[in-house]
Amino acid sequence: MSLEQRAWKIASTEGNMLSRRAFVGVVASAAGALITGPNALADGRNVDNQRSMITEYKAKDFSEVAKGLKGISSNQLAQHIGLYEGYVKKTNAAQKGLRKLHTADKAFASTSTRDLSLRQTYSLNGMILHEYYFAGLTAERSVPAGNVADILEKEHGGVQKWFQALISLGKAARGWVVFGLNLRDGHTHFYVLDAHDMYSPLLVIPLVVLDVYEHAYMIDYGTNRGAYLDAYAQLINWSVVTARINRLEHVSTGRIWTD
Ligand SMILES: [Fe+2]
Repeated sequence: MSLEQRAWKIASTEGNMLSRRAFVGVVASAAGALITGPNALADGRNVDNQRSMITEYKAKDFSEVAKGLKGISSNQLAQHIGLYEGYVKKTNAAQKGLRKLHTADKAFASTSTRDLSLRQTYSLNGMILHEYYFAGLTAERSVPAGNVADILEKEHGGVQKWFQALISLGKAARGWVVFGLNLRDGHTHFYVLDAHDMYSPLLVIPLVVLDVYEHAYMIDYGTNRGAYLDAYAQLINWSVVTARINRLEHVSTGRIWTD
């Protein structure tokens, strides 16, 4: 599998908004920019092409997730989804602002681009993490099965110990607990984030994403995070986790990203 094919396979997991055609365009354009050098950016036509490649994200519809969910009320979820939709708008605004700065005829203040760049990362991560969280909830009780159960057994001492770790980290974290596949070693790990953009690991594909911000449970549970975590543990959609793993290759067979 070529690097492009592999990158596309990873990029085409949920949350990605590029079409295959657009993705190839981005790869080709990036290669072209490397060949032609920075002077290409002074060319009006190329600048227009750069602008047209901004992805305008649209909020996904998670209203169906709320139906029948036991343990998280529809009001709690609806308000949470509203926050997520705000991140989508903020991501789009930051991207547009940055592109405007980067393609301006005049030099721009570094503080402006720094501020917008940080906001872009914060909002983009906020958007993606919430999408994994909402899409990973289900009203139908499910359990780890097949290759997911095998991974939990081999790498985490079994399903029960995996849940124990999840709940413990959920109590300790300030923002998120992410259980994901590390592309460098080909194995699964837990990661804790204090904010959307704080301690986010690179080259990790999320499999289970748990939101522990107070806004995720305050309406239903007040400050009782433990009760929320117990409820969340019953709501994980293991079919979605399996689908996320099945999109990847070489799970638990060693390093798959080796530069
Ligand atoms: Fe949240």
